[in-house]
Amino acid sequence: MITRRRLLGVAGASGMLATAPALFDVAFAADGYINITAGPSKTKLINADTADSALWLYDNSTPGPEIRATIGDRIKVRLINNLEEPTSIHWHGLRIANEMDGVSGLTQEPVMPGEQFEYNFVVPDAGTFWYHAHNKSWNQVARGLYGPLIVDEQKPTFDKDHDLTIVIDDWRVKNDGSFDIESLGNLMDWSHGGRLGNWLTVNGESRPTLELKRGEAYRLRLINAANARILDLDPNRFGAKVLAYDGQPLEDVTAPLYAPMLLGPAQRLDLVVIPEENFALEELSGDRPFEFAYFQVKDGAGTTEPVRYPRPNPLPEPELDKAKVFEIDMTGGAMGRFTETVYKGQVLSNEDMRRTGQIWAFNGVANLADDPFFSVQQGETVVLAVKNDTAFAHAMHVHGHHFRVIERSGATVDDDKPWRDTFLIGPDQVVKIAFVADNPGKWLFHCHMLEHAAAGMNTWFQVG
Ligand code: C2O
Ligand code: CU
Repeated sequence: MITRRRLLGVAGASGMLATAPALFDVAFAADGYINITAGPSKTKLINADTADSALWLYDNSTPGPEIRATIGDRIKVRLINNLEEPTSIHWHGLRIANEMDGVSGLTQEPVMPGEQFEYNFVVPDAGTFWYHAHNKSWNQVARGLYGPLIVDEQKPTFDKDHDLTIVIDDWRVKNDGSFDIESLGNLMDWSHGGRLGNWLTVNGESRPTLELKRGEAYRLRLINAANARILDLDPNRFGAKVLAYDGQPLEDVTAPLYAPMLLGPAQRLDLVVIPEENFALEELSGDRPFEFAYFQVKDGAGTTEPVRYPRPNPLPEPELDKAKVFEIDMTGGAMGRFTETVYKGQVLSNEDMRRTGQIWAFNGVANLADDPFFSVQQGETVVLAVKNDTAFAHAMHVHGHHFRVIERSGATVDDDKPWRDTFLIGPDQVVKIAFVADNPGKWLFHCHMLEHAAAGMNTWFQVG
């Protein structure tokens, strides 16, 4: 987990007096497209005194520019690739047309260096989403190719000053404070818990301070953009309630919260907080809480109107009695049980595993095969019964759909079968999810610990 010594060892005085980092606004081209350029960038990751980091960013900014829309809007983005390798953008959590899903090699050809691609889609749900590179994601997302995408309700529930996007990333930095490029692709990370960093940023800044007004209600939209780190949080510590998971509002925001609350890679957590005194966001996996963002509370007008909560999005309810059930056994990785693994139609020998880096599998198959893992008709209810037969936790993501978590072995809290697009599963756990496969096309199901996906925890299914 985060080693405090290294976390604190790198930077000098940090945080407390910095102002809230502003997120970049997008720039519209004359034709209504938002131009977003993916390219190399030199950035100070920790503070102004540390060495430059050679990152890859969208529009030279970390995180990339915030894309903001209203439910039902059409979003048009022109991706301009100034990188030295092909790329594409995936719109994480958005239930959009398959050809706009941005998966290089499955839903589109990767965009070559010097070339462009136009994304053009309608957003069906209001909520907190994000976008990120989806070609060699373990490399491109680690280097910084991601940004927030927020879809407002028809009548936004919180005004701009009370609606804060908080993009969290953990970076692996060297002793001079620069981004560690050399360790990208390290097979030790691939076979263990993925690439974990040793420095957390919030909206690209180190331990920033945000100012809030006392007694006024705020929506905090937390996005975990880390390659592999699960954040241990506890909103109870500052009296917050959960509004939404992965962009999908809860029916009951007053429900008591279990703690610690885990925020896995790619997951989002929307909180509502009415602050009375200063507080911090803390990561709790270490032996002491690690504060990574500060909230300074100043006198304000106080809440005058009752807080309005976002309403659930129009998601199709799974029909469990008619569901097609698919079992998925997750295997491989360090300390995992040995199982025969097939990659591109061939059974892998130990030597092949080292050479290809394919060390994880679903039902004995590593990575994308020519044939889909399963196929269903459009409109059918799918239940995935996923068993984690590995020694690590994973963050499993379904493309193009949101699902209900209908069963979780060992869970003691009935958390109301929330909608999600990414679920965590612990070692030896069985988790069942259900969704209506209403979106035709080829969709990925993969671990969002991006090293695990690259190393085999990646498959696809066909709808329609
Ligand atoms: Cu957030 Cu396959 O992606
Ligand atoms: Cu994983």
